[in-house]
Amino acid sequence: MTVPTAPGLGGVQISASILSADFANLGEAVRAAERGGADMIQVDVMDGRFVPPITMGSVVVEALRRETGLPLDLHLMVVEPERHLAEFARAGAANLAVHIEATAHPHRDLAQIRALGMRAGLALNPGTPPESCSELLDLLDFVLVMSVNPGYSGQEFIPASLGKVRRLRRMLEGRPVQIGLDGGVSADNAAAAVEAGADVLVAASAIFGAPDGVEAAIARIRAAAGR
Ligand code: DX5
Repeated sequence: MTVPTAPGLGGVQISASILSADFANLGEAVRAAERGGADMIQVDVMDGRFVPPITMGSVVVEALRRETGLPLDLHLMVVEPERHLAEFARAGAANLAVHIEATAHPHRDLAQIRALGMRAGLALNPGTPPESCSELLDLLDFVLVMSVNPGYSGQEFIPASLGKVRRLRRMLEGRPVQIGLDGGVSADNAAAAVEAGADVLVAASAIFGAPDGVEAAIARIRAAAGR
């Protein structure tokens, strides 16, 4: 079986989403993820409007920046994300994804994210087709395919997301754009995700909720992903 990867980006990466971590001990959570070999730390920023919960903002990103050398991978579930891009760049974000459903001007947002020195991504809700990105391909460093409706960790994986990843991988052929899969990702579906064309696996509960600990959980996902 040949595993498609984004050219020049290497193999599959794991982004540990702290949404399921102990918020009273986030420093230890990100250090455990780092010891376990995570490639990045995903920070889920929710505004109580695009999605019901309110989670964390740039002050938390800034604090995490002091605790880990891993890239901070921001998933903004926020309306009018353009109002916050510079703030998150200053706080130390490496990657920043805005939701295509949350902005009137994804083209301008992506250009601005890059101009601020971050890698630019678009997140797609389960109901949003991959073709919605078709006029934005030159501006993308990654696409985050949501395999749950965003807002909460611990939800059930939506299997149709794999077909979406496959279509997106075809659309992106020859371009150095990563595809992340986010929501209900675990060792149980990691192989299928990679086979479909995902090269970033984002997991919260499968990592921070694992009974045998963060490091064992990351090792399990990596082994299942086969690279
Ligand atoms: C969706 C978030 C995800 C979510 C994943 O709202 O972007 O990172 O926390 O959680 P799990 O891996 O538990 O489905």
